[in-house]
Amino acid sequence: EKQGFKHYMLKEIYEQPGVVRACLEAYFDTEWSAAKASSPTKIGLSDAVLDDLQQVQIIACGTSWHAGLVGKYLLEQLAGIPTSVHYASEYRYSASPLTKNTLTIGVTQSGETADTLAALAMEQERRSTLSSGFEARLLGITNRPESSLGHLVPNIIETHAGIEIGVAATKTFVAQVMAFYSLAIDLTYRRQARSSEALEQLLDGLRQLPAQIELILESQERYIEELAHDFAETQDFIFLGRGINFPIALEGALKLKEISYIHAEGYPAGEMKHGPIALLDAKVPVVTIAMPGTVFEKVLSNAQEARARDARLIGVTPMDEQEAADTFDTLIPVPHVDEILSPILTVIPLQLLAYHIAARRGLDVDQPRNLAKSVTVE
Ligand code: F6R
Repeated sequence: EKQGFKHYMLKEIYEQPGVVRACLEAYFDTEWSAAKASSPTKIGLSDAVLDDLQQVQIIACGTSWHAGLVGKYLLEQLAGIPTSVHYASEYRYSASPLTKNTLTIGVTQSGETADTLAALAMEQERRSTLSSGFEARLLGITNRPESSLGHLVPNIIETHAGIEIGVAATKTFVAQVMAFYSLAIDLTYRRQARSSEALEQLLDGLRQLPAQIELILESQERYIEELAHDFAETQDFIFLGRGINFPIALEGALKLKEISYIHAEGYPAGEMKHGPIALLDAKVPVVTIAMPGTVFEKVLSNAQEARARDARLIGVTPMDEQEAADTFDTLIPVPHVDEILSPILTVIPLQLLAYHIAARRGLDVDQPRNLAKSVTVE
């Protein structure tokens, strides 16, 4: 069943190009071009759900919460809709005020996470006490439409990841992020927040992602496996990113914690100097995601601050960027890509790094201690 892979997690990492292809097929008009008068997306949500939104709130746990943070960035930067992201376990006891034009999105791979379900049930209840028509603005993003979530909410975007067995979420995360691209692009089109040409470019970029993930897997896996040897004794890791790659820093840290039991923290790179930089010394590797775009120079200079503390600097960055090559001790190259599409690529090496560090330590990667695939208790 593992098809020659040592663990389900590694098999699922390798399934990601196919998952992105399946999501592209399901969510987008693959023939779409700027000349067409129709929508570039086909996510099947009605006007009652998506028109006239004033705000979006996203509720989730763990890795799905990280996908929500990427979603916030897309909804705000592309569609221009104010978006907040909440931990379900917090939200259910301290809900935000709603307006009639608030869309609430629950993100849960399993569709069975107790906190997420409870928060959404609460939102449904609150809505039913407000004026009519408002109930429609509740959406679930899930890999299992037949789950409890599917029965609870009136609208679903299905993530096309196939069943995920490894406890550490990988391909379902990538599929959730794809769902957010489709939603954000649908809303961008509806609101005419970007030109058709800009949308066409974005779609072209999305179509190239599967081959680019394949390239990372082919060119980097052996190298990352080798690199993992260096961290046999490492006790702490820091992951840095900014903008749309800040959630990927969080996700890289979570993957490592979960399966290798190494302490890891993800930080927005600009926050390091406000405290966490005190943690750094030669024993703490710093993995920085540095993709050309709005914050590239800023991230590189944040990484240089870490260098001054003797930390080993590992950069997830395009190969041919001289300034990045000069900044980092170790490079994990990823293809050049529009910053807004980069999370789908930058997360791949971080999954591989977590996997190989844990596998090298001889740990049970697919069934880490103290964790269950879906958390059905509060
Ligand atoms: C991380 C992981 C967990 C889940 C979280 C939410 O690898 O698997 O953090 O993401 O428990 O699960 P779902 O998405 O099923 O609600």
